[in-house]
Amino acid sequence: MSRNLLHVPLVGTGTQLRGGLAHPVKHYHCPMTTMNNPTSHRSGGAKSTARRVRSFVRRHGRITPAQTRALAVHWDRFGVELPQAGNLGALFQQQAPLTLEIGFGTGDALLGAATVTPAANFLGVEVYDAGVGQLLLRAAATDLSNLRVFRADAVDVLEALAPRSLARIWIFFPDPWPKKRHHKRRLIQPPFARLLESRLSSSGVLELATDWEAYAMHMIGILDATPGLTNECGDGHFAKRPGHRRITRFEQRGRRLGHDVFDLKYVQRTS
Ligand SMILES: C[S@@+](CC[C@H](N)C(=O)[O-])C[C@H]1O[C@@H](n2cnc3c(N)ncnc32)[C@H](O)[C@@H]1O
Repeated sequence: MSRNLLHVPLVGTGTQLRGGLAHPVKHYHCPMTTMNNPTSHRSGGAKSTARRVRSFVRRHGRITPAQTRALAVHWDRFGVELPQAGNLGALFQQQAPLTLEIGFGTGDALLGAATVTPAANFLGVEVYDAGVGQLLLRAAATDLSNLRVFRADAVDVLEALAPRSLARIWIFFPDPWPKKRHHKRRLIQPPFARLLESRLSSSGVLELATDWEAYAMHMIGILDATPGLTNECGDGHFAKRPGHRRITRFEQRGRRLGHDVFDLKYVQRTS
């Protein structure tokens, strides 16, 4: 496909066509952006807890001495252990709406948001030690008191958090696991989607982004079918890029490869 046909502007609305299709497909932007046949997950029994999906491979040996030192020195200030998840009020100096970013990588989006929005609280979860170390390294140079992080599997963290405790959940550029035999490793699966929904407060917001079209289709199929989540743009429709979403390392990589970027936005609606 031609790169021009796939390019999505950062802001604005409009219709873009996908190359090579018999019919032009509008493929981005709320409110009237339709994907052809997102995978439907409407059926399927509701389970109360998420099936364990190992959505990551622990990477060893790439951590720098500075990141290792940051983990040792600054963990007490920013780190959260799983048993503390049940008492979030004690973690922060202020009572404020809480955003959780899952898989924050090196923390570009999380640190930026915590810095420009001091009146809100931010939690991150990441399994990649070098990424956590990198975030701590930069956070330590600030006087932020509204940022805390877990070094853990997001499923464990979500299960430990109280139901309806999160105002926002962000999942930006989750590992796409493009090979078919690895699709089961994708983070977004029906049980995980139900777990996300259960932790969102009433009218809480779930935002995601990916530069893999096939994963975007997979996500929208699952999330549109998740009870309690409403696609703000209508089923099968992608969202505009939110103004607050910063460009991360993985988004930059996707752009270099000429990938399109897909945003999704869901609101928790208690029935
Ligand atoms: C492709 S990277 C994207 C990182 C970052 N959001 C960005 O845009 O640069 C996906 C990240 O999700 C993390 N991850 C994957 N599964 C996870 C899980 N179950 N719990 C916590 N982090 C996870 C990985 O370690 C990885 O750093």
